[in-house]
Amino acid sequence: MRTFVLYTRGKTDSGFKLEDLPSAGRIDLICRCITSALFLSYKMRKGNRIFVVLNGPPRPPVTLCFNENSNFYPDERSIALVIKKLLSLEFDKEWKEFENSLVSKRSFQEIIRELNGNFYVLHEKGKDLNEVEIRENPVFVLGDNKGIPKNDEKIVLRRGEKISLGKESYLSSSCISILNWICDRKGIS
Ligand SMILES: C[S@@+](CC[C@H](N)C(=O)[O-])C[C@H]1O[C@@H](n2cnc3c(N)ncnc32)[C@H](O)[C@@H]1O
Repeated sequence: MRTFVLYTRGKTDSGFKLEDLPSAGRIDLICRCITSALFLSYKMRKGNRIFVVLNGPPRPPVTLCFNENSNFYPDERSIALVIKKLLSLEFDKEWKEFENSLVSKRSFQEIIRELNGNFYVLHEKGKDLNEVEIRENPVFVLGDNKGIPKNDEKIVLRRGEKISLGKESYLSSSCISILNWICDRKGIS
C-alpha cells in the first residue's frame, strides 16, 4: 500500500466557508493533495491512502484518512464538503467513519507511531531522490505551505530518511503527483 501523510495547519472545526478555503488553514491545499494522492483521470487509484493531520486551531489535532473507497469527486469543493462533514461528527481517538472517510483525534506523532512501512520525509534539503531506493509500502510524509516542525520531523526520521525532489520548493500536491508517477513507473505499491 502507498501511504501519504500530510502535516497541516488546517482548522479542526467545521465552521469554515466553502467559498474561502485558504483562510481555514489552507484547506484548499489539503483538498488538492487529496486529489493528487487518490485520483487518476476518471477513476480512483487502487491501494493508495492519505492521512491529513489538522493541527488547528481551535481544537487539539485531528486526523482525517481517505482512500480508494472515499466518496467524493476530485474537485476542491466536493472534498471540502466531506472534510466539513467529518469535522462536524462526534468523535474521539477511535476512528469515526462517514462514507468511507475517517476522522479521529489522533495527533501526527500518534499516526506515525501506528503506521508500518518504509518512511520518507519529503524536504528540499533531503538526500537526492536519484540516490535513494524507494521500497514497497512507502509512507511519504509531507508538509503544508509552512512545512513540518523540526520536532515532528525528528520522530519520522527515527524510522526513515529525508529525501528531496530537487532544490526548488514545489507545491505539496505537486510533490504527491511526482511521487505517484515515480512509484507507478517503478511498480512500487
Ligand atoms: C511548499 S513546501 C513548504 C516549504 C516550507 N517553506 C518548508 O520550509 O518546508 C510544501 C512541502 O512540500 C514538500 N516539498 C516541496 N518541495 C520539495 C522538494 N524539492 N523536495 C522534497 N519535498 C519537497 C515538503 O514536504 C514541504 O514541506
